[in-house]
Amino acid sequence: MTMTLDEFIVGLPKAELHIHIEGSLEPEMMFALAKRNGIATPYADVEAVRAAYSFSRLQDFLDLYYQGAAVLMTAEDFRDLALAYFDRAAADGVVHAEIFFDPQTHTSRGVPFQTVMDGLLAGMAAAKTRHGMTSGLILCFLRHLSEAEALETLEQARPWLDRLAGVGLDSSEVGHPPEKFARVFAAAGELGLKRVAHAGEEGPPAYVREALDLLHVDRLDHGNRALEDQTLVARLAAEAMTLTVCPLSNLKLCVVDDMAAHPIGRMLRAGLRATVNSDDPAYFGGYVADNYRAVAPLLSRTELVDLARNSFLGSFLPLEDSARHVAAVDAFAAANPA
Ligand code: HPA
Ligand code: ZN
Repeated sequence: MTMTLDEFIVGLPKAELHIHIEGSLEPEMMFALAKRNGIATPYADVEAVRAAYSFSRLQDFLDLYYQGAAVLMTAEDFRDLALAYFDRAAADGVVHAEIFFDPQTHTSRGVPFQTVMDGLLAGMAAAKTRHGMTSGLILCFLRHLSEAEALETLEQARPWLDRLAGVGLDSSEVGHPPEKFARVFAAAGELGLKRVAHAGEEGPPAYVREALDLLHVDRLDHGNRALEDQTLVARLAAEAMTLTVCPLSNLKLCVVDDMAAHPIGRMLRAGLRATVNSDDPAYFGGYVADNYRAVAPLLSRTELVDLARNSFLGSFLPLEDSARHVAAVDAFAAANPA
């Protein structure tokens, strides 16, 4: 029996490398946590929340994303949030996930850094037990806040360094270039942390260059606008820089006008190590398999397999583990020809 395209997408072993755990807060859980914590939400019901998710730019989304995160109070909340994501990811064939979290969104509301860490680590341990899924944590600095606040957040993370895979940079891109965080990223590198940054989602190719040259990133999040600069594309290809591309996010935030015009195929054909990810699945209408489905019409089966291979090659797993996962991808592809 040959597999349907959908079975092939779900069955491919995959890593997810660009998922903001706060962006996996489904409206149902938002209401449940609001009730559990005695917090008012501005919405009448779940349908009203979903109806509000119409965005014309990144900032429209961010405003609702930070508002939604205000229902997260206890370690149990963070554990439940993470485990709900891992359950969805496992059902989509994800075997390893490197998840972003935004501690400043929580510490600024009086939720201790430790509460966030305790909850997320409990969710990660449960995902290992329940699904055999491995995971890593990437602490993101909010780029609309100051360098000093980011440095303070890195200080708070010191007792947890062995539980962090790396640091990242997210939130409002335009007007907050990577250069603003060069010293924070240098300090994180000295602490042995991997470094990633959102760049070229709405910001210009110059921001992508800054992420490479000033933040010394190990991976680039989004990177769409790098395509405007052919010299930069050639450099990213030569350096085998992983791009964590998020198709449904790109459509919802108007980074692309139309999925048929999504650049994922062009990226792969330009030799870029592109991957496909969900970004904020509760807000953008789908988890990782939905994102593969969305771009599948633009790609060959071989290119879908390349995306899955790239997800492990671009992960922060030890080399022997990523090699084992790549071999599993190749075995799956060989056993299921188109
Ligand atoms: N871009 C920037 N910041 C974010 C995003 C994003 O796609 N998702 C959550 N925070
Ligand atoms: Zn993102």
